[in-house]
Amino acid sequence: MNTPSDHPHEPFHSTPRPLDSAPSVSPEQARREQDLVDRVVASFDNTGSPRLRQLMQALVQHLHTFVREVRLTEQEWSTAVGFLTECGHITDDKRQEFVLLSDVLGVSMQTIAVNNEAIGDATASTVFGPFFVEGSPRIETDGDLTFGAKGQPCRVQGTVRDLTGRPVPGARLEVWEADEDGLYDVQYRDERVAARAHLFTGDDGRYSFWGLTPNPYPIPHDGPVGRLLEAAGRSPIRASHLHFMVSAPGLRTLVTHIFVDGCDYLDRDSVFGVEDSLVKDFVQHSAQEPPPDGHDLAGRSWASVDFDIVLAPAE
Ligand code: BEZ
Ligand code: FE
Repeated sequence: MNTPSDHPHEPFHSTPRPLDSAPSVSPEQARREQDLVDRVVASFDNTGSPRLRQLMQALVQHLHTFVREVRLTEQEWSTAVGFLTECGHITDDKRQEFVLLSDVLGVSMQTIAVNNEAIGDATASTVFGPFFVEGSPRIETDGDLTFGAKGQPCRVQGTVRDLTGRPVPGARLEVWEADEDGLYDVQYRDERVAARAHLFTGDDGRYSFWGLTPNPYPIPHDGPVGRLLEAAGRSPIRASHLHFMVSAPGLRTLVTHIFVDGCDYLDRDSVFGVEDSLVKDFVQHSAQEPPPDGHDLAGRSWASVDFDIVLAPAE
């Protein structure tokens, strides 16, 4: 494709046009454009894998529809390529700007919706996020996963059940969260492991642990995705949440969060991860109120939340 400087390009419209008004092009121009779409789609006709053929042909059709509908300028094409190139440059084994882009475009959440159709009362899924780490420490029932991370202590408890209501003993819960400053342990330059752990449900399917009351925090926004959000007047802030991944033999692994009822960002989570059913009541307790398990709170106030989990059967 030519760059704008090679061929100065007159924009089709000088003012932004609503997307639903179809551009008027001559029948001859429309035929040329459609002919190109047809030829590119046909170029994938012999793709060995039927699924890859379906994906590529649908992708080509949607991309061309986009280009034709918005009458994409060459300058805009070039800006988009520069943006994706920057996403590539900032991506490494710790930072994944393409996943972040998918997240803020709602594509991650849409993919989750498509793949996790609601089954009965099964707990809703939401985005995985970039801060899960394999090999978290194990804690026992009523154990503390904060490992010194700053924040208000929060007791989390519930029961894991299957769709028939039977408790699931031995289910593995991975839990991770940001500290009071909105940072996960892996975002610090030291090697700390904090505010993350795994534990198992007891014979009655119950679990309980101590974590931190979640706070809102921004997704990484010092790169191209952050600039995009700024240009769109969007906030990078995620609604306060606590991550869970719950697995048990014969049941579908659940990746989800719980959100704090009353958090200001529930209706504008930067990655569209909030589901109403995942918004929970985090009850505040004064320092004078003793917790049920006698946990040492060092004179601090605390919170508690109940989160019962229902796992769907594995496919
Ligand atoms: C998170 O919740 O940790 C997260 C999710 C998506 C993008 C960035 C962060
Ligand atoms: Fe998170």
